[in-house]
Amino acid sequence: PEPTAAAVRTWPQPAAERGEEQAAEIARRQLVLAIESSCDETAVAIIDAKGNMLANQVSTQIDFHARFGGVVPEIASRKHVEVIVGVMDAALEEAAEALGLDAPIAPTELAAVGVTQGPGLVGALVVGVAFAKGFAAGAGCPLICVNHLEGHLYANLLAQPDLEPPFIFTLVSGGHTMLVHVKAWGDYEVLGETLDDAVGEAFDKVAKALGLGYPGGPIISKLAETGNPRAIDFPRALNRRGDYRFSLSGLKTAVVSYIEHETAAGNTLHLPDLAASFEAAVFDVQYKKAKGALRETGCREYCIGGGVSANPHLRRMMIQKLGRQGIRVTVPPLNACTDNAAMIAEVARRKFKEGDFASFDVDADPNMTL
Ligand code: KG4
Ligand code: ZN
Repeated sequence: PEPTAAAVRTWPQPAAERGEEQAAEIARRQLVLAIESSCDETAVAIIDAKGNMLANQVSTQIDFHARFGGVVPEIASRKHVEVIVGVMDAALEEAAEALGLDAPIAPTELAAVGVTQGPGLVGALVVGVAFAKGFAAGAGCPLICVNHLEGHLYANLLAQPDLEPPFIFTLVSGGHTMLVHVKAWGDYEVLGETLDDAVGEAFDKVAKALGLGYPGGPIISKLAETGNPRAIDFPRALNRRGDYRFSLSGLKTAVVSYIEHETAAGNTLHLPDLAASFEAAVFDVQYKKAKGALRETGCREYCIGGGVSANPHLRRMMIQKLGRQGIRVTVPPLNACTDNAAMIAEVARRKFKEGDFASFDVDADPNMTL
C-alpha cells in the first residue's frame, strides 16, 4: 500500500473557542486524562473529579501477536507508537461529546495527565510514559504516575464506588497472580504470589498446546461452558491451609501430558470437558485461598481483578460461594478486567486530589510491585 503523508499539526492543540460558561464547566470538572500502554493495549481514558468516566478508548494489538502465540515485545512497542495519537484524539473527542461540546477537549483544558509507569514490558511502558510527559509538559499540567497492578485493583471502584479497605483482593492477569490483604488504600500486604506461571499465562499455554489460538482465556472459558468440570481430575497445587502461594506450571504440564497421552492412545479429546476441568483446578485453588485469607484476616469484603477476572465461571464462583458466607464480593465491570485506561484514570483521579504528582524526570519501571 501507498504510505500516507506524515500528519503535521499544531501541538499542543489550541483550545477551541468556548463560551464563558462552558470554559468554567470544564475547569470545574477537573478533567484527568490517563494513558495505559504496559502490554498489548494502547488505551486513553478521561475522568472528572467526581469519578464520571467521560472517555474510555482501547486499541488492542491482539491480532498482531496472535500468530506468534503470545505478545512479542518489539511489536508491542511499535504498535503503541503507531496508534497512541489516534487513541488520544478519539478520547479527547469522546469526552467532548459526553460533555455536549462541539470541539474536542484540548490538552490545556486538562487538570492532569496520568500514566502507567509499570510493571509491564519496558519498551511498551516507555511509549506511554514518554508520551505522557511530553503531553503534560505541552499542556502545562501535572504528571501522575500509576502502578498498573493498583489499576487492576481500582477497577473494582468502577463497579462499587463505596468499596473501602480492609478487604482481600485477588489479582489474576497474564503476568501476575497475587492474593493481597488491602489494609488501607496504598497499604498492601501481599499474602502470596505465584512461584512460576501466572493464571492467565496458564490459560494461554493450555490453549496454545491445543492449537486454539491466543489469548487462551476467552477461548477456554467459552469451551468450558458446556463441559463437565469433574470429568478429569487435574492436580491442585499448594492446596494446604495457610499457604497463600500459587503454582500453575505443574497443572499446565499435567494438561499437556493428558493431551499427549489421549492423542497417542487414539482417543478424541473432549475439549469442553478438558477446558472445564482445567478451569475447575485453577479456580478451586483460587477460591480456597481467598476464603482462607478472609477467615484469617477477618475481612468481610472481597474483590478481584486482572484479565482472568473476566472469566464468568470464576466471577460466579466467588460471588455465590463467598456470598453465601456473608462476604460482600465485588467484581470489576467486564470491560475493566483486561487492560484499559479507565482503571488507571480512577487511580490518577485520587492521586490528583491528594496532590501526588510525579516529577518530569521519572522513567518507566517494568518491575514495579504492589
Ligand atoms: O490484565 P490483562 O489484560 O493483562 C495483564 O496485565 O497481564 O490479562 C490478560 C490475560 C490473558 O492471559 C488472557 O488469557 C486472560 O487474561 N483472560 C482470561 C479471560 N479473558 C482474558 N482468562 C480466563 N478467562 C477469561 N474469560
Ligand atoms: Zn493488566
